[in-house]
Amino acid sequence: MRDPWVSVGGFVWMLTLLGARVTLCRETPDDFVTQWKSECHFLNGTERVRYVARWSYNQQQFLHFDSDTGVFKADDLLGVPSAESLNSQKEVLEQERAAVDTFCRHNYGILEDFMQRRRVKPKVKVSRSNNEDPNKPHMLICNVNGFYPYAITVHWYKNGQKDPGVLSSELLQNGDWTGQVMVMLETSINPGDTFVCEVLHVSLDEPLRRNWDSEESESAKSKKLTGIIGLVLGGLFFTVGGVMYWKNKKGRPQFHLQPEGVNFMG
Ligand SMILES: *[C@@H]1O[C@H](CO)[C@@H](O)[C@H](O)[C@H]1NC(C)=O
Repeated sequence: MRDPWVSVGGFVWMLTLLGARVTLCRETPDDFVTQWKSECHFLNGTERVRYVARWSYNQQQFLHFDSDTGVFKADDLLGVPSAESLNSQKEVLEQERAAVDTFCRHNYGILEDFMQRRRVKPKVKVSRSNNEDPNKPHMLICNVNGFYPYAITVHWYKNGQKDPGVLSSELLQNGDWTGQVMVMLETSINPGDTFVCEVLHVSLDEPLRRNWDSEESESAKSKKLTGIIGLVLGGLFFTVGGVMYWKNKKGRPQFHLQPEGVNFMG
């Protein structure tokens, strides 16, 4: 059984190739690179699997094996002797033909949980670009980040209508198995317009929507609200404090000046 991504057969074969280069060429170049790549194509889970192995010399592919044909094929003259040799070795052929099971399906079983079942919800932020030029159209930005898997759909709605005037960045892979994408809406913004960024993703039970208000952004709105509450509370405390101080000042002498003392009846 092979380790994930490492084929012992391919590695051994690579060493034979290097040996062949030395004997065949009188002038061996100082720098060269040989590459070997195995691909597993899962066309319907593990139901239908195609295995393709490719060998390259200085980035030019000269040989490949495809499980659909089951034999090695040369891609250029350099590959001809290798293909003939490998196809005549029953053991090598059998091993390569078994790779759909021993390599592809085997690794699928190991990695399936992480790659197929992993779901991470996107975070969505909506903002306006700082472009102040009045002659240019306005730009609203919907920043969708931190999601997995990478398939995602993002729409912009203006006043309830899907707006086709969108530009989208390439999907960026963050390197931690999450992705991000920016979808920009070029538009004109008039007072009262509503804008909604809608995100559809397999991790979400229902589409995620974020509003952008043409009057004021959400954060400005909440700041304003906080300011108003603060003002009201401040005013209240000031009034109560003032009243108490005034009452206290007026009442204090009455408590101190009781020349007759306390009279008891009886
Ligand atoms: C995919 O495989 C499943 C069985 O795992 C099968 O029922 C289904 O028909 C296949 N779909 C296609 C498109 O071949």
